[in-house]
Order: sequence, then structure tokens, then C-alpha cells
Amino acid sequence: MIAIGVPAEDQDEPRIGLTPETVKKLVKAGAKIRVRSGAGLRSHFSDDQYKEAGAEIAKSDADAVADADIVLTVRRPSPDIVKSMKKGASAIGMLDPFSDAEGLDALAKTGVALFAMELMPRISRAQSMDVLSSQSNLAGYKAVVDAAAAFERALPMMMTAAGTVPAARIFVMGVGVAGLQAIATARRLGAIVTATDVRPAVKEQVASLGAKFIAVEDEEFKQAETSGGYAKEMSDAYKQKQAALVAEHVKNQDIVITTALIPGRPAPKLISKAMIESMRPGSIIVDLAVERGGNAELAKPGEIVEHEGVRIFGKLNLPGSVPVNASSLYARNLQAFVEALIDKEKKTLVINFEDELVKGTLIARDGAIVNAMIAERLGGKGGHAPAASPPKSVANGGNGGKNGPKGQTKGAKS
Ligand code: NAI
Repeated sequence: MIAIGVPAEDQDEPRIGLTPETVKKLVKAGAKIRVRSGAGLRSHFSDDQYKEAGAEIAKSDADAVADADIVLTVRRPSPDIVKSMKKGASAIGMLDPFSDAEGLDALAKTGVALFAMELMPRISRAQSMDVLSSQSNLAGYKAVVDAAAAFERALPMMMTAAGTVPAARIFVMGVGVAGLQAIATARRLGAIVTATDVRPAVKEQVASLGAKFIAVEDEEFKQAETSGGYAKEMSDAYKQKQAALVAEHVKNQDIVITTALIPGRPAPKLISKAMIESMRPGSIIVDLAVERGGNAELAKPGEIVEHEGVRIFGKLNLPGSVPVNASSLYARNLQAFVEALIDKEKKTLVINFEDELVKGTLIARDGAIVNAMIAERLGGKGGHAPAASPPKSVANGGNGGKNGPKGQTKGAKS
């Protein structure tokens, strides 16, 4: 029997890593589950629903995790929770692996194994475990919905007896997972959508969603995608040409959604203050890259900044503002990963430390940090065991979620 424990998340995190649906599946796979009373309420999952699905309800976080072999969380667990866990048990969640290395080291020293879901290699086998995709997709959707709600005009064109309401113009910058969903959502709401990216592969995807692709399509653009499928940092000459194109385009846009990220680098600055000043009052920018420095000048994490009538949204944790879906998808990501750690015949936990998924996500084990990048950040402060040959995704940066670079092990998408 494998024991799984789920504590409550902090006040500012409405998501949860377990749903009644995944309880049923994990129980079937051989798990016994204890969830902290009330932990699912902000995603509208009641204790009764968890009980009906086969989980036990724990009175406290300590009670939920004390006997667990695996603890499932959304965010990095608190030191108190980790201290309540058994030595050698595993904590799995979005651990924000490249920030606060000292904090992670303190958790590691308790002897608990730590798995960061953000570092899941982007290979076909792990698509169902890809938390970056499941959460970014919702962020892209919510960015458009938030902008539409705050925009003091309608999005679709409406022809009425009293006259025609023009369609709003929405520009999406960066067409990865979040950007594609932003385009699809904006189109569904009837806006005229344009999008840009530095990766040529995106051009067709944009067209297939009914939006217009605009970009500086020179020789450098043709080489801008890495073998891992991510964007490269562009040259200063390209950036200048791109800025001129964007400046010309942005002044006629009503809503701009920015999602551009580059592995291992701060987010590229794509919208200058002058561009913001060229936009009409009432226009809105939603900067999804704000946690990595922002694509728009003036964007501030967690704030709505108003400048000359243009509002720049720097909201954090957008997936957390659609917690029911975000929790459902995230819980399925976790369930898929946990099932990969279970011996299906014997219904026991078997962690194969040679498995690519384990190697990619494991950041601490047996009291020490084993992820080379985190160990490097700790910089010889003692007691660490940097992996001799770190898993490829980690060697290339993995995904830092907020501060770190992204993994490069993306395999063929099926
Ligand atoms: P991301 O979050 O790293 O970046 C977002 C977008 O910003 C990317 O499309 C990138 O090209 C773009 N960008 C970077 N610099 C820019 C600039 N200066 N100007 C304009 N745009 C810029 O990307 P995400 O969402 O993680 O997706 C990256 C790729 O990985 C995509 O091709 C996606 O389809 C693929 N992917 C593959 C998966 C798999 O095989 N399991 C899972 C998820 C995504």
C-alpha cells in the first residue's frame, strides 16, 4: 500500500493537487490517501466528495502527511509540513526550483526527496505530466478574459439599427502554449487578432486559429528556434527591427497580451514606454511574463499600473484565478507522474532513479540537493551532492518556473 498525503495550501494559493477524480484513480492504483480537511474548498472540492472518492480526511496538515510516502502539493511545502513527513518520503509539487536555493536546501536537509514538476522533461511520454502546459494554457485564456472584462468596449463587431460597434483589435506577443490559447480565446470573443513570435514554426499555427501573423521574417528569424523548440535571444539588430514593427502595429491595438519568454534569460522587453504612450487611452496590456521581468516596460508584478490612460496588468498566478480547472488539470498531471512511480503488479512504490522523468524532476534526496544548477547556486555552502552528470533537462536549465531557464529536452509532440 502506498500512502499519499495532501496538506492545505497557503492562503494565496487556491489550487490543490488532488481532486476527487484523481483520488479514485490513485486508490485504484494501490494508494491510501489522506487529505487535510478543507484543503480543496477553494477549488470547490468538499471533504465529502474526497471521502466518497475513497480518501480519508485529516484534521491537520501534520496528520495528513505524517505517514505518507508521497506528499502532493501545488507550491513548495512549508518547513513545518516537510518536518512532519517521514524521512525518505517524497514531496512532489511546483517547487519553484530556481528561487530561494537556501530554502530548498533547508527542506532537503530533512531527508525528504523533493520533486519539482516544472522540470518534467518535455518528451512525449511525459506530456500528461506537463504542468507548464496545463497551467499556461489557462493563463492564456484568463489573460484575454480579464482584459475583455476590464475593457470598456465590446470585443466583437455588432451591427445594430443604431450603428455599428467595431471589433476590438487584440495583439498577442509570444505564441507558445499561453499565446496560442490567448489567440483562440480572443478569436472566440470576436476580436480581430494579430500575433507575433520569433519562431517561424508558429506562423502556420497562428493562421490556423484565424489570426494574422506579423514578424520581422529575415534570415535570423529562420534560425530562431532551438533544437528544443524554444526561442533564442535575438541580436540587437533584430531587436531594433522588431521594435520598429511592433511600434507601428501597437498604436492601433486595443488589447495587447504578452507571453514571450526565452530559456535561461529574463523576458525580452518588447513594449517600451513610448509604445505604451502611443496607444489610445482605454487600451489594456496584460503582461504574462511579469514574473520573469516582464515584456512591457512599466509592468509590475501583482499590480495594475495606469499610464496615460493605458492599463498594464501584471497579475500573478492567473491559473489560480481559474482554480477549478487549474486544480483538475494539475491533479491529473500529478496522478500521471505518481502512477509512473508505482509498480502496477505489486501496487508498491518503486522509484527508478535512472528513469528520465525521475532524473529530470528530482532536486533533492537523502539530505542533499542533487540538482546541479541549484547546487551551483548554493555555491559550495557545504553539504551538497551535485549530480555527477545531471539529467539533460537540468543540465540545460530545466524550467525555473519564475526565475530559471527552461528545459531543452522537448521531444516530438504527438
Ligand atoms: P515559452 O513559455 O518559453 O515562450 C513563449 C513564447 O515566446 C515562445 O513561443 C517563444 O518563441 C516566444 N518568444 C520568445 N522571445 C520572443 C521575442 N523576442 N519576440 C516574440 N516572441 C518571443 O514557450 P512555451 O509555451 O513553453 O512553448 C515553447 C514550445 O514548446 C512551443 O513550440 C510549444 O508548442 C512546445 N511545447 C512542447 C511540449 C511537448 O512536446 N511536450 C509541451 C509544451 C510546449
